[in-house]
Amino acid sequence: MILVGAVSDIPVGESVRVQGSVPIAVFNADGVFYAIDDTCTHQDASLSDGWLEGCAVECPLHAACFDLRTGRPSGPPARTPVRTHEVVISDGMVYVLESAETGADVAEALAEEVR
Ligand code: FES
Repeated sequence: MILVGAVSDIPVGESVRVQGSVPIAVFNADGVFYAIDDTCTHQDASLSDGWLEGCAVECPLHAACFDLRTGRPSGPPARTPVRTHEVVISDGMVYVLESAETGADVAEALAEEVR
């Protein structure tokens, strides 16, 4: 479990980046916390530097939007989902449980779904 910080240190509309096996972005979307892989699946951009809009974040480089609940991009140029991670709030602190899935697992599951 990765300690992110105190709930009070991450205001609504803000994000922080923490280090798991890869960088992970944690967002406070209207009081609900979400965690996804920080690196855009299109190119090397940090999604924690993107713009948060509801339950989606817009990549700062080419504006692909990722749904924070599913990790799926809404459209090009990104085609591959980012991994999502479980967020745990305990005693006023925010933690992330990093998913054991790989990016390839996520893409494969998505491909299965559309078959
Ligand atoms: S790097 Fe994110 S959309 Fe291109």
